[in-house]
Amino acid sequence: MRRRAVLVTGANGEVGHGLIDRLAQMGETNIVALDVMELHDSLRPKVKAAVIGDILDQDMLQRIMSRYEIGSIYHLAALLSTRAEITPEAAHRVNVEGTINLLHLAIEQSRLIGERVKFLFPSSIAVYGIPTLDAKAAAPPVGEEDFCNPTTMYGCNKLYCEHLGRYYSHHYRRLAATPEPYLVDFRAIRFPGLISAFTLPSGGTSDYAPEMIHAAAQGEQYHCFVREETRIPFMAMPDAIKALLLLANAPVERLTRHVYNVTSFSPSAGEVASIVQRDFPNAQITFTPDTRRQSIVDTWPAQVDDSQARADWDWQPDYDLTSAFDSYLIPNIRQRYV
Ligand code: SER
Repeated sequence: MRRRAVLVTGANGEVGHGLIDRLAQMGETNIVALDVMELHDSLRPKVKAAVIGDILDQDMLQRIMSRYEIGSIYHLAALLSTRAEITPEAAHRVNVEGTINLLHLAIEQSRLIGERVKFLFPSSIAVYGIPTLDAKAAAPPVGEEDFCNPTTMYGCNKLYCEHLGRYYSHHYRRLAATPEPYLVDFRAIRFPGLISAFTLPSGGTSDYAPEMIHAAAQGEQYHCFVREETRIPFMAMPDAIKALLLLANAPVERLTRHVYNVTSFSPSAGEVASIVQRDFPNAQITFTPDTRRQSIVDTWPAQVDDSQARADWDWQPDYDLTSAFDSYLIPNIRQRYV
């Protein structure tokens, strides 16, 4: 008998950590964690199985399928935006071909278990590409259909995967003689920059905010790679996990789209630095913009409109800028580095 399981790819990543912790707290005992690296020790007791493997390895995915009946997939594995600009073709393989492999696995599982497999996908503010800083400053909070002209490989990959998710949910093999009885139930969230107290991101372009905070807590100097006035949306990690689980559990009849913005607060890099300096008075933060990484965040919106998520699945963040720092980030980060 195949055992029922929730599959989490990219399990060792920041969202993977937060999600597995939360699912385990909620009593989920059937998590299969997949990552290219060995699963972090702290997560091991929280999962049923930890598989080391590459989402491009079809044989490995088939082996997972033969062992488990997968009712839902959190497909978190990806190369983030800075890393993807260094190796764009590798990013395409992981971010797009990897996602197709998982969507295909979801379709096959749906057939086997006779119900739609839920597919949760973290998309990103990187799907937006605002042409100029003037247009960015003038734009109202950006809605899901606006400015979808990404300028990074990562943004292109995420936007295309959103379309693939829609295709696998409604149109897969539309000319087949016998239509697929069960398609995928694809749900995506366009996350802003995420800030965790417990993990650090790697390879992203919104990394300056979490890096600044974690560096200060360790007494390290930080050279911020964007200008002080740079503004994009951010969110505390518990709210990102809350959003994923709210969307995962929302009744399908209430969903009016496959892809939703979510947001919490939009500080400038200078505002983040001021709060960090208030809490860590010895913090040494300098602004030494890297023009190339700057040019990426300059195309991302300062604010996004998440009214659709609020209307369809009762989304609202628990943390604003003040409470994210005072109740979540600072106390936990202080404890982490004592
Ligand atoms: N945090 C991501 C990045 O910087 C954006 O989704 O690449």
